[in-house]
Amino acid sequence: MCGIVGAVAQRDVAQILVEGLKRLEYRGYDSAGLAVINAEGNIARLRRLGKVRALEEALVQEPASGGTGIAHTRWATHGAPSEANAHPHISGDNIALVHNGIIENHELLRNYLQEQGYTFVSETDTEVIAHLVHHEQKQGLSLLEALQKAVHRLEGAYGTVVMDRNDPERLVVARSGSPLVIGVGIGEYFVASDQLALLPVTHRFIFLEEGDVAEITREGVSIFDSAGLPVEREVVDSDLDHEAGDKGPYRHFMLKEIFEQPDAIASTLEDRMTAETIVLESFGHRAVEILRRVRAVQIIACGTSYHAAMVARYWFETYGIACRVEIASEFRYRKAFVPDDCLFLTISQSGETADTLAALRMAKEQGFMSSMTICNVPGSSLVRESDMAFMTRAGAEIGVASTKAFTTQLTALLMLVTATARATGRIDAEQEAEIVRELRELPHMIRNVLTLDDAIQQLSQAFADKHHSLFLGRGTMYPIAMEGALKLKEISYIHAEAYAAGELKHGPLALIDSDMPVVVVAPNNELLEKLKSNMEEVRARGGQLYVFADRHARLVAGDGIQVIPLEKVHDIVAPIIYTIPLQLLSYYVAIIKGTDVDQPRNLAKSVTVE
Ligand code: AGP
Repeated sequence: MCGIVGAVAQRDVAQILVEGLKRLEYRGYDSAGLAVINAEGNIARLRRLGKVRALEEALVQEPASGGTGIAHTRWATHGAPSEANAHPHISGDNIALVHNGIIENHELLRNYLQEQGYTFVSETDTEVIAHLVHHEQKQGLSLLEALQKAVHRLEGAYGTVVMDRNDPERLVVARSGSPLVIGVGIGEYFVASDQLALLPVTHRFIFLEEGDVAEITREGVSIFDSAGLPVEREVVDSDLDHEAGDKGPYRHFMLKEIFEQPDAIASTLEDRMTAETIVLESFGHRAVEILRRVRAVQIIACGTSYHAAMVARYWFETYGIACRVEIASEFRYRKAFVPDDCLFLTISQSGETADTLAALRMAKEQGFMSSMTICNVPGSSLVRESDMAFMTRAGAEIGVASTKAFTTQLTALLMLVTATARATGRIDAEQEAEIVRELRELPHMIRNVLTLDDAIQQLSQAFADKHHSLFLGRGTMYPIAMEGALKLKEISYIHAEAYAAGELKHGPLALIDSDMPVVVVAPNNELLEKLKSNMEEVRARGGQLYVFADRHARLVAGDGIQVIPLEKVHDIVAPIIYTIPLQLLSYYVAIIKGTDVDQPRNLAKSVTVE
C-alpha cells in the first residue's frame, strides 16, 4: 500500500528512485510519480496513472536529472486514481512532498489553508501537508522546523518525505504510523517506506521510530524525537538478499515463494532447536521467565496471519493452554476480557498492519502479562513495539498472496506452543522431542508435496470456468480450508467459501450442485471418518469433490470425486503440509484465468491504513 523512495546524492537519482519503486510494486498501487531538483534548481516532476513502467517510459521522453529526489507509488484512499492525485504534491513553487498513510483531519486543515490563500489542485489528504509545510516555512522557519511544526497539526498516520528547491541538498522526513527507513550510503543517503526498495544501493539502515522527524543531507542524518530532542538511532546491517526482489526463473513471485518454503522453514528453525528441545531464549532474553508464567494466550492478526492464529488455538488448547483468537479490526473496538497471566501475541508478515498495530497499542493499556509478535520484517513497528519478537525468516515476500510467510508463521507457532507447553510443565521431554523431530522433517516433507505441482496444474482446469467453490476441513484443517479459500478468491477472483465440514448440513449443503467444486483437506486423523460422511453428503447431491488426502485414507477416486494423494504425515504438522497443494491450486487457476497473480486487483501487500 503506497511506497516511498527518496535520495540525496552526488549522482543522478531518477533511476535509483524508479528501481526503488519497482521493488515496492508488490505492495499494490494505482499511480506513480517522482520529482527531482534539476541543474537549473527547478522541481522536475513526472506522474503517471498505472504501472511504474509508464513512469519509466515517460522519463525516457522527459529526462529528469538531479541528485535530490523523491518518488511514490499511490494506492488511492482520498480521491480517485489519477495523475492529478498522484504524488509528489507541490506547494508554492518550491516544496514537493510524498506521503503514505491517511490524514484524518484533512478537511479541517484544508479549510484553514484555503483561508490562508492556498488553492488545492488534488482531492488528496496529502496535499494539506505540502501546503502546511509551505505555510510554516513562510513564517520564517527552516524546512526541518516547518515539517516539525506541520506534523504537530496532523491527526492520522503518515510517513512523509519533503524537499525544497531552495535548499536542494536536503530531504526532511517524518514518521508516525507509517514506516520509514533511512538507507546509509557513502556520501549519499536514501529513504524509503521499506528497506527492500534500497537494497540495490545499500544494506545499512536506520529505522525511524514513531514520532521521529529527520533531516537528511549527503553528509549525514540528524534525527529528532516527537518532543523535538535530538536522538541517536542505531545503524543496522541488513542480511536481506539483494536478489530478494527478483523472480529468478519463476514466472511469478508467488510461484517462487511457494517453492522457497522448504528453505524458508529450514531457516526459521535454524539455531532455535537442539536435537530434542526448542531453545526458549529464541523468543527473547526474557522468554524463559515469561513463558513459564503463561496460563492463557490472546492472539490477534488479520487475513492469512489470522488463519495461522486459528491453527495455533487448536495446538495451544491441545496442551491445556487457554487460547483466544481474534481479528485485529474487531478486537481493537471492543472491550476484551483479559485473563490472568495472559500473553498478547500478534502475528503479521509485514509487521505494519494498521489494525494489528493498533490492537497491540491498546493491549498495552489493558493489563496483559507481556506482548510478543511473530513477524517476518525485522525493524517493523510490531517488532519494535512488542516485548518479544520471533522472526519468521521467510525472506522478502513480494506476492500479495501470502504463502511462505504463512507456513513459516505456522512453524514459529508450533515452536512457541511446544516451548510454552514445556516451560509450563504440560508436556514432557519425550513429547517435546517428538515435535522437534517433526519440525526438523518439515523442509523435506514440503519438497515432497511440491512434486505434486504437475498433478495440481491439471486439476486446476476444473476450476477455471467456475464462479463459486467450497473448501471443507475439520479440526486444524478448518483454518487451512479457510486459507485455501482466501488464496483462491484473492488471486483468481472466484468466490470461495470455507466451512468446518460439520456445518454443511446447517446451511451450505443447499449450494451444492455439479457446478460447485468442493475442495476437501483430508489427512488421516481421528476426524477422517466424520469427514468421509460429510463428503458423502456432497456426493449424494451431485457435488464434485477434489480431495487432498493421505494416501492411506482409503479414499477412492470415482464418479464425482478426484483424490490427490499425499504421503502420511504426523497430525501436528499436517496443517503446514496440506497448505502447499491449496496454494498451488489457486496459483494455477489464476494462471488459466490470466489474472495479475502477484498484484491482484484492489489489494495491497501491506495494509498500513485502517
Ligand atoms: C494474504 O494472502 C493477504 N495478503 C492478507 O490477508 C494478509 O495476510 C493480511 O493483510 C495481514 O497482513 P500481515 O500478515 O502483514 O499483518
